[in-house]
Amino acid sequence: MSDWVLPDEVLADAPVYTPRPHELADLELLLSGAYEPLSRFMNRDEVAAVNATGFLPDGSPWPTPVTLVVPEAVAAKLDTASARHRVLVLTDPEGAPVAAVETKELTPTGRGVLAAGPVRRIGEVLHGPFRRLRATPAQTRRTLTTSRVLGVIADRPLHRPQLAEIHRAAHTLNAHVLILVPVATLGPDGLPPASLMRAVLAARDRLPQATIVAVPLSHRGDEVRDGLLTARVASAYGATHLLSMGRNFTGGSGIRIMLPRQLCYDIRDGQWRAVDEVEPPFRRQAMTGAEIYDMLDRGFGLPDWHTPPAVAAELRKARPPRRRRGVVVFLTGLSGSGKSTIARGLYDSLLESGERTVSLFDGDVVRRLLSAELGFSPEDRALNIRRIGYVAAEVAHHHGIAICCPIAPYASGRAAARRMAAEAGGDFILVHVATPLEVCEERDRKGLYAKARAGQIESFTGISAPYETPDDAELTVDASRMSVDEAVGTVLDHLIEGGWLEATGMGLTGGR
Ligand code: ADX
Repeated sequence: MSDWVLPDEVLADAPVYTPRPHELADLELLLSGAYEPLSRFMNRDEVAAVNATGFLPDGSPWPTPVTLVVPEAVAAKLDTASARHRVLVLTDPEGAPVAAVETKELTPTGRGVLAAGPVRRIGEVLHGPFRRLRATPAQTRRTLTTSRVLGVIADRPLHRPQLAEIHRAAHTLNAHVLILVPVATLGPDGLPPASLMRAVLAARDRLPQATIVAVPLSHRGDEVRDGLLTARVASAYGATHLLSMGRNFTGGSGIRIMLPRQLCYDIRDGQWRAVDEVEPPFRRQAMTGAEIYDMLDRGFGLPDWHTPPAVAAELRKARPPRRRRGVVVFLTGLSGSGKSTIARGLYDSLLESGERTVSLFDGDVVRRLLSAELGFSPEDRALNIRRIGYVAAEVAHHHGIAICCPIAPYASGRAAARRMAAEAGGDFILVHVATPLEVCEERDRKGLYAKARAGQIESFTGISAPYETPDDAELTVDASRMSVDEAVGTVLDHLIEGGWLEATGMGLTGGR
């Protein structure tokens, strides 16, 4: 850890910035010593070296960049040449200061400015579920007394096949088990961290002697680099071996190490070794994540041979059957495409059936109530969609249906709304109301297209501002080719077919 001098008055003057979630996760790992010997955000040369060779310029191996990118407006307040003005305070999402960065280099990139330099803790992250399980690497190492420690990355719940694998490996190696649960982002199966943690804890009495630690590890999307970084972090927490758990940490694509063949990565010499190839610990195939989710979605119990009942109970809570799960129905399309009318029809049908609680966030109503001060610049639209996505996700979190119908012209905004729904444990259905621009303009019920053409409205979607056509819509409807009732029916059918609604409950719907 760096020992630069950091007087209070420097901190008081320093610009403040809240990094994005994966950067905050990296920050916590840097501060806790999990990334040792790394204790800084990397600069451009380090990033290039790591990407090209897997080594830092000083020759130490490092699998993947650890960086902080700040907006230009933040970078503009920093002066790398001045000890006083190069300090940047980083806060958690609630605005509580967590760390200071001594920015030694600022490098503009396409996405913002790379801020590189050592970090220093200035405050504790005090909240977040299962905080008590976030022991630091040093604290964890102190509790480990055996010479062999088998690290297990539990980024998915532990079902019987995984538990059998852990037992077998721990027994063969004569090792204490160290379960590391990544809690920085959604798991690879889309399970929110607190749900994952609860599911792992529910398997606790079926594990051998084990230490369970929550680690702010996030996925970077490159399995090999992620795996190698994970191995480093596991080693910092005291693991001497790492169980593959059906994943591949080494070779290129396609070489997956599958259950029940058991391989163990020996962190001390970087070799894979077979733990025990004599007899599979589990004769029946482990179910895939998709199979497990499919059963949960439909409200079937997970079979006892596969999942201990306590784990199954946690998964049922985290992923209730779709007919009780929250869902965000997000209609996107041009102004005048018919989004509001279809959304309204959908809302009324759901109210009539009384089967589910439902909230409607109409674009124009949101603009009056939630986003009254916002205009139509890309930034304002992004914020408008984030607000809608946030509120809709809260509705979904409480198992309701949220219907939203803003234009949402940018794929990034729609993706953010989708992510927020997933993080809240809800589903997300994107409906593209693909009524062609000519038709919307021809109808021009609010007279806005005419004004936009006449130059009286700036940045009007479809005329003087872009609409990025979705390529990830679950449904596409076109109000120029079907009636409103038909469009509403299409969405309702999708909800019924997917199991979010009972077909019988929708008997009252008019027009169907
Ligand atoms: S979004 O882009 O942020 O998703 P939103 O759906 O909230 O837009 O608002 C769109 C509504 O605002 C349109 O239906 C229209 O009535 C009105 N509006 C006013 N100015 C504009 C503009 N420049 N571009 C698009 N819609 C506008």
